[in-house]
Amino acid sequence: MLKIGHRGAKGYVAENTLASFQKALELDVDIIELDVHVSKDNIPVVIHDETVDRTTNAKGKVTNFTAKELQNLGIPILEEVFDLVENRCGINIEIKDFEATKAVLNLINHYSFDTEKIIISSFDWNVLQLCHTEKPAIHLGVLTENSIDKALSFAKKISAYSIHPYFKLLNTENVQLMHQNGFKIYPWTVNNPEDITFVKSFLVDGIITDFPDRL
Ligand code: G3P
Ligand code: CA
Repeated sequence: MLKIGHRGAKGYVAENTLASFQKALELDVDIIELDVHVSKDNIPVVIHDETVDRTTNAKGKVTNFTAKELQNLGIPILEEVFDLVENRCGINIEIKDFEATKAVLNLINHYSFDTEKIIISSFDWNVLQLCHTEKPAIHLGVLTENSIDKALSFAKKISAYSIHPYFKLLNTENVQLMHQNGFKIYPWTVNNPEDITFVKSFLVDGIITDFPDRL
């Protein structure tokens, strides 16, 4: 079962920062999960929210800042994370903004990162549809917070690699169905010891957590 560090190691270090990804590596994760938006100058940047308000001391939409300005606020560009990781673990790139999709694919195409080690996921399934059309070989993860049935149908349609459900949606039947159809199951975000025990009982393939050392 894979250890997947949510926004790096969010339980220990500020989320989606290079320090958080470094901490996740030290905690021996198999994959880091991170969130991507696009800057004003069309560079994929690593931040969860649509604005910089919550995680920096500035205010405004991510798309109003250049990549350089965002870096000065402590927000990494995706390429820096590739540089840091150097193929030592996988990267689950969660695309938060459809407009970031082509920039992410372009970076992957021009960067010498092992493509097998990348999974692109999104709650916006239009993002996944576009990735499937543009780069059919890329591993795609279908995110859902409310319907494993719908995620499963869509995963079949785009030949996805994995399904990433909110962990409370799991039950014996839907886990069996996802596995029978050949999909990896990576539920999120599982932090409490009781929830970890609950999710592990389904023999999922990986768990996305803020505390990778608890798995
Ligand atoms: O990728 C799973 C999980 O990160 C989705 O929720 O809001 O933490 O991006 P969120
Ligand atoms: Ca995420």
